[in-house]
Amino acid sequence: MKFEGKVALITGASVGIGRAVALMLAEKGAKTVLADINYEKLEKVKGEVEALGSEALIYDCDVSDEAKVNFVCADAEKKLGKIDILVNNAAIWRSHTPFTELSIEEWKKYFDVNVWGTVYFTRAVLPGMLERGYGRIINVASVAGVYGNANMVHYSASKGAVIAMTRALAKEVTEKGVLVNAVSPGSVSSSMNEDMDSYQPTELAFIGRTGTDRENASLICYLASDDASYISAQNIQIDGCRKKQ
Ligand SMILES: NC(=O)c1ccc[n+]([C@@H]2O[C@H](COP(=O)([O-])OP(=O)(O)OC[C@H]3O[C@@H](n4cnc5c(N)ncnc54)[C@H](O)[C@@H]3O)[C@@H](O)[C@H]2O)c1
Repeated sequence: MKFEGKVALITGASVGIGRAVALMLAEKGAKTVLADINYEKLEKVKGEVEALGSEALIYDCDVSDEAKVNFVCADAEKKLGKIDILVNNAAIWRSHTPFTELSIEEWKKYFDVNVWGTVYFTRAVLPGMLERGYGRIINVASVAGVYGNANMVHYSASKGAVIAMTRALAKEVTEKGVLVNAVSPGSVSSSMNEDMDSYQPTELAFIGRTGTDRENASLICYLASDDASYISAQNIQIDGCRKKQ
């Protein structure tokens, strides 16, 4: 996989899968644009990217703030000329609440970040991709969006929307050179651990462990690469052969 000459925008790049994608793409030659609400950690990732001999523009950006998203994309395109790759990775997912106790505020917050954040970034970068006849959009969804997780109905619904959006949009833009795919992780190692290869045991997968940030980033980078030139409208599960649905 080679990314020389490519510009990649990754949301939620401060920790976990997003950080691993940023570092992997930078290592393979891409210029990166990183957006997150955790600016302190983002500055650290910028330093890690630079240590790899690459460059990163970083933005303190809440993906649910449409005006800020539009500013980030316009500013990055002005500075780097284009955005070839968009990885919609930022999301919220940690609340476990029975449906009957979920507030409408929480429902709205999950959709604002997980769905609307993906819509805003996609709307902002897609016109440039279509004009240039080249683009890769990878949406990070979840097995929750495929199977549904109890006590995470709002999260599951938001990721289901992301998967449906991926498939539908691909049908509009694939023939114009923009390939759109989703990846759906199962259980991933804690994003608070900076070791990209760390994992924990889990009974949720036949493989017996969580997936690592590096494993998830490898799949995302493959889909972002020219090697994946015949793949679009797919949702690829990366879940170690999930047991429970
Ligand atoms: N960790 C898992 O077990 C797991 C499983 C399935 C899917 N996923 C998906 O993988 C992706 C990454 O998850 P993770 O666990 O690696 O990281 P994480 O959930 O710990 O962090 C996500 C990143 O997004 C950022 N973020 C959150 N809200 C934001 C907002 N409004 N605007 C901008 N940035 C925001 C956070 O600051 C953080 O850097 C998410 O889309 C998540 O839903 C994760």
